[in-house]
Amino acid sequence: MSNILIKNASQLVTCSGFQAKQGKAMSDLHTIEDGAVVIENARITAVGKSEAVLAKIDEAKFESIDANGKAVLPGFVDSHTHFIFGGYRAEEFSWRLRGDSYMAIMNRGGGILNTVKATRNASKKELIESGKKRLDSMLSFGVTTVEGKSGYGLDETTEIKQLEVMKALNHVHPIEVVSTFLGAHAVPKKYKDRENEYIDYMIHMVIPKVTDRKLAEFCDIFCEKGVFSVEQSKRLLLHSLNVGLKIKIHADEMVQLGGTELAAELGAVSADHLLHASESGIKALADAGVVATLLPGTAFSLKEPYARGRYMIDQNCAVALATDFNPGSCFSESIPLIFALATIYMNLSIEEAITALTINGAAAIDRADTIGSIDVGKLGDVIILEYPSYQYIPYHIGVSTVEKVIKNGELVFDKESSERTNI
Ligand code: NIG
Ligand code: FE
Repeated sequence: MSNILIKNASQLVTCSGFQAKQGKAMSDLHTIEDGAVVIENARITAVGKSEAVLAKIDEAKFESIDANGKAVLPGFVDSHTHFIFGGYRAEEFSWRLRGDSYMAIMNRGGGILNTVKATRNASKKELIESGKKRLDSMLSFGVTTVEGKSGYGLDETTEIKQLEVMKALNHVHPIEVVSTFLGAHAVPKKYKDRENEYIDYMIHMVIPKVTDRKLAEFCDIFCEKGVFSVEQSKRLLLHSLNVGLKIKIHADEMVQLGGTELAAELGAVSADHLLHASESGIKALADAGVVATLLPGTAFSLKEPYARGRYMIDQNCAVALATDFNPGSCFSESIPLIFALATIYMNLSIEEAITALTINGAAAIDRADTIGSIDVGKLGDVIILEYPSYQYIPYHIGVSTVEKVIKNGELVFDKESSERTNI
């Protein structure tokens, strides 16, 4: 394991903190000019002005990176994705461009059920291979931790297969994958109009296998009109809490159903999407300290109205941003796209957007104590930009500004060496 020193950073953006930042606190990035970070045995051991940090160490003992002219930030945390799946749905995308709605395609057996078919047919090896490629791409955008959900099996075998694939990827890829069980992602054909029986099946047959083998840390559900009701969601999530899973909810994405209020009532770690969240629901999230995870790439791709991120922050919510990378509603792992949408269309400041993708992203997966900021004691997950300040992140529209990625104290991505060689 190498020991790394990053010195002379024009701007060291620490995002310092060990819990979610709510409301106004989201603007606090705690930057240090001419900063340095020391990482030893995968952990951050010193942070400060270069001069002060260098005075305390023997530089010769470190692999040293000169970050003069560059900004240094914590690695991004993509806290909501569905990146393990078989097949693609390019055709559905073109149908949507012609005016078909996402839910209409789903109701006629396409959408999630289309991917379910392909994922059931895919071998574990194939899913590991495609998953690895997708993680490589995420890494190039500066993502050092990603949350991934099952939910394209809707049966015991395939749900478990997806979770096993994520576990396997943790051994072969530097990005840490945090797994969520999303067996209640859609109602499979076999259970059409028998949603309650499907929830029973999840509770009695599938969740015990997931918890016995510790295959997931979270349970999530698609609480939506025509999918699972608030009552059904409550039953599944309460059971999950009882068996030691933490909870998340896909809430109020297409219509206002009350998933936001449910997330607050149950003390979910995060409530996600929230395009149609009510005012009282938003206030309840802020009061309960539930992270509001917003996914502007999905609203953009589905031509739906954006979640009210500005209003949520003004109401003292802790907002996180994530890609929702999946084969249907948002086939994009692009962090620059999320920055552009959040700052240009949702009226988040650049500082708030950075908080939402670092410490609040970490809080959305219950890891604000170990990642999401550059603080002594945290894991050495750090990115170095090609530019001297964080303002370049949204300014360079749609293009990654990340030059180097360090995960657990190891240099795992370097733009220079991954670039095409001139021949
Ligand atoms: O978060 N809304 C439900 N689930 C995903 C989409 C999954 C898919 O279309 O395959 C989402 O948008
Ligand atoms: Fe999702």
